[in-house]
Amino acid sequence: MSEDGWRAICQGSDLKEGGMLPFEVGQFQIALYKVNGEIFATDNVCTHGMALLTDGFLDDDVVECPLHGGRFNIKTGQALCEPVDCDVKVYEIRQIDSRIEVLLGE
Ligand code: FES
Repeated sequence: MSEDGWRAICQGSDLKEGGMLPFEVGQFQIALYKVNGEIFATDNVCTHGMALLTDGFLDDDVVECPLHGGRFNIKTGQALCEPVDCDVKVYEIRQIDSRIEVLLGE
């Protein structure tokens, strides 16, 4: 990881509009999403159980967990419906040239 906590994880062209991709970076499991040309990042593990959000469904800015249907806003991480009651962590991202970087820690 770079000293300032930014970590390159993919090329912008890897992500398709309306799509999502999983990345494992050290101990972090990250989900990247592309919605309306903007890229967002959250933890990929559901806060309700052991499921990867990228195995679920993305509908605009809401991702639905494949296991019990919990939904999260990918921009804010907010848990939107039962059974999830704990928000998912969101990460800051930046694009440098074609490279997507995620801020994993200071
Ligand atoms: S594991 Fe995601 S809603 Fe239960």
